[in-house]
Amino acid sequence: MARQHKEGKLSARERIEFLLDENSFEETDKLVAGPSTENGGDAQSIPGDGFVTGYGRVDGRLVYVFAQDFTVMGGSLSEANAGKICKIMDLAMKTGAPVIGLNDSGGARIQEGVRSLAGYADIFLRNTLASGVIPQISAIMGPCAGGAVYSPAITDFVFMVENTSYMFVTGPEVIKTVTHEDVTKEKLGGSMTHNSLSGVGHFISENDEDCLRMIRELLSYLPQNNRENPPRRRSTDPPSRMDSSLDSIVPPESNQPYDIKDVIRSVVDNGDFFEVHEHWAQNLVVGFARMDGRPIGVVANQPAFLAGCLDINSSVKGARFVRFCDAFNIPLVTFEDVPGFLPGTEQEFGGIIRHGAKLLYAYAEATVPKITVITRKAYGGAYCVMGSKHIRTDVNLAWPSAEIAVMGPEGAVNVVYRRELAAAADADAARTQKVEEYRERFANPFIAAEQGYIDDVIEPHETRPRVIRALEMLENKVDSMPRKKHGNIPL
Ligand code: HXC
Repeated sequence: MARQHKEGKLSARERIEFLLDENSFEETDKLVAGPSTENGGDAQSIPGDGFVTGYGRVDGRLVYVFAQDFTVMGGSLSEANAGKICKIMDLAMKTGAPVIGLNDSGGARIQEGVRSLAGYADIFLRNTLASGVIPQISAIMGPCAGGAVYSPAITDFVFMVENTSYMFVTGPEVIKTVTHEDVTKEKLGGSMTHNSLSGVGHFISENDEDCLRMIRELLSYLPQNNRENPPRRRSTDPPSRMDSSLDSIVPPESNQPYDIKDVIRSVVDNGDFFEVHEHWAQNLVVGFARMDGRPIGVVANQPAFLAGCLDINSSVKGARFVRFCDAFNIPLVTFEDVPGFLPGTEQEFGGIIRHGAKLLYAYAEATVPKITVITRKAYGGAYCVMGSKHIRTDVNLAWPSAEIAVMGPEGAVNVVYRRELAAAADADAARTQKVEEYRERFANPFIAAEQGYIDDVIEPHETRPRVIRALEMLENKVDSMPRKKHGNIPL
């Protein structure tokens, strides 16, 4: 315990105490013991076998929790303690409540061989079956290595703690042997690596307490299971509140950036935005907020990063978030300002076609209430993808600054007027004139509105009340999918 504290980590029981409402924890399987030597185990038989499992309350709502105790054989997973996890997961499925896993483990208990691997596989199966039925949250609060990473990876959200957590499939020593690369544990699988580079981590926190507090906050936006609606709160922010600063937030020059998070904070209740994947694929912003007390999932292009282009990572990030919201009845509000998909060989060779299709598929499949607000650019395929009317979005609004077109004016003019421009005496002047004409004709929301693809062109300052009214109207929306075993999302 002293060593655990010295490393800045809480113990398994301290973590559970901190996470749950006071005195709400009921422990399960406290007396389960690991196998004795006769059964192939090691000499020790430890009550609880190193994992603390049970159930309790967060803000009065039922949750199941397990915490791996690194002070007992390095928190290693055995047949016995895997059984404890499976037991609470089965209960969670029957009672429809979230499962929170607090991971701090050296992985499969080496002395138990295949029986501990079997324990992992039993958990992986349950993670998979529970996916989309109950929210599953993983906190990495110490090591999580080898195949053990695949349980958190299947769960909905992965929290990591700065400096003490790391995840990798193969550690630095194995990498050194196989590929001769030198890499530290932190660089390979530390919290920032997974939060900014790999996208495996959704949240990063300074310490254990911070991490557990964030888990409580996340849960406040989520329903208990896929049959419930997310919990509505009494809002202290008037639904009719308008914000005139939005009228000048989009710069007059269409290639100038602005921060879409300013728009989100201005529109949602009390400016509270709980961002998911804050450090990864920052050209797309996703996260939870409330509008008139109703939880929503926000998806927004970020013009302040890569001009808001969609690329491989942002497509994957958006697709996973949209699917989570859809699975758990959380309405989607999209803010769109996207010049298109990021061009380049790196993106094409990396499969932007396949990955971009994931985002399209996720939006098209989603049957929750969907509202899109186009703040500026909605160009090309990205117009279709980002919650367009054509893929079952219920309410599509546009600001007067919206530009809805097949591509940006410069690109379009170069294609359409190539011959004319080549023949012109002053090609630059001719191009400027054509670009102006194109912008006037196509780069506005009114052609789309004439077609009914946009329901209304609104003043930016009225965005909050208009979106809230749309959410109210859609409260009892029912939509469905054709009968199928499951779709085949382009993975
Ligand atoms: C049994 C283990 C253990 C394990 C640690 N311990 N890992 N016991 N099985 N997997 C024990 C140690 O023997 C030690 O016991 C105590 O836990 C604390 O470990 P230390 O090594 O002293 O801690 P530390 O220096 O902080 O190092 C932590 C560590 C290291 C980096 C996690 O312990 C380590 O490398 N462990 C092995 C990791 C590993 O390769 N696991 C298998 C991964 S493959 P004492 O008695 O001395 O206190 C895997 C497959 C999953 O998990 C498959 C799923 C499909």
